[in-house]
Amino acid sequence: MKLARKFQKLFTAEALQSLWDHARRWRHPVDVRPLLDRLDRNAWAELRERFPHRPEAPRINRFVDTEHWIPVNVERAQDLWLDQSPPLRILDLGCGPGYFLYVCTQLGHSGVGVDIDEQPLFRETTALLGVRRVIARIEAQRSLPDFGEQFDLVTAHRICFQKTVRDAHGHWLEWEREDWEYFLNDVRTRMLRADGRLLLDFNPRADGCTFFTPELRAVLVRNGAQIFRSKALLAVDARQRAAFKPTN
Ligand SMILES: C[S@@+](CC[C@H](N)C(=O)[O-])C[C@H]1O[C@@H](n2cnc3c(N)ncnc32)[C@H](O)[C@@H]1O
Repeated sequence: MKLARKFQKLFTAEALQSLWDHARRWRHPVDVRPLLDRLDRNAWAELRERFPHRPEAPRINRFVDTEHWIPVNVERAQDLWLDQSPPLRILDLGCGPGYFLYVCTQLGHSGVGVDIDEQPLFRETTALLGVRRVIARIEAQRSLPDFGEQFDLVTAHRICFQKTVRDAHGHWLEWEREDWEYFLNDVRTRMLRADGRLLLDFNPRADGCTFFTPELRAVLVRNGAQIFRSKALLAVDARQRAAFKPTN
């Protein structure tokens, strides 16, 4: 009974937050069209020919679809109030095709991405989007590269770097509590400015209805994360609640 009430409360809080996000986007719309129009039409058409997006093509090719991914990333930016905040320095971990940093740049921010250099498509999309990326592998219990600066915001959307190897059943093994503690401490002490924020956005799990294992949720909550659907937002100080709206 107690549990049912807790779930009901959670659902209501999420529903309200979601409604609030929609209302804010409606009040402060971002026009996606100019962000698409500024792209080099011919270069993207040529890329789409080489990486066709159709059912039998490799799944990675779906990332050539700018009409889909730019609006998705505008929403991600709006969720962090990046359409209404002063210029921020942003570090995007596992930046993939680079759409998030492209949108951020168009909204007046600047930043750098980190990724492994395994996808030829991402090499080309980041170049076309003018996104600077550092090639590095994020690994358990290893410090992130030294960027010679600290950031207002560190993001990681639909992260994969916590997956280590597949087990005998083909399921991914993931970072354990100590690995997450190491990573969070590294980001907080070396990557973020004093009022910085870390946003971790997780992929749906195989069961299709959760983003966090109970262990992962526990470690994030213990570190002061605010969790909303697939996202966990953390402040530099684990005793503080990070705000989706930046304070500066
Ligand atoms: C699902 S894609 C998400 C891309 C992008 N963040 C987005 O949401 O559109 C995951 C990205 O993480 C990168 N990645 C996976 N393992 C990584 C690691 N150990 N270190 C750095 N990047 C990694 C992949 O190359 C890929 O670009």
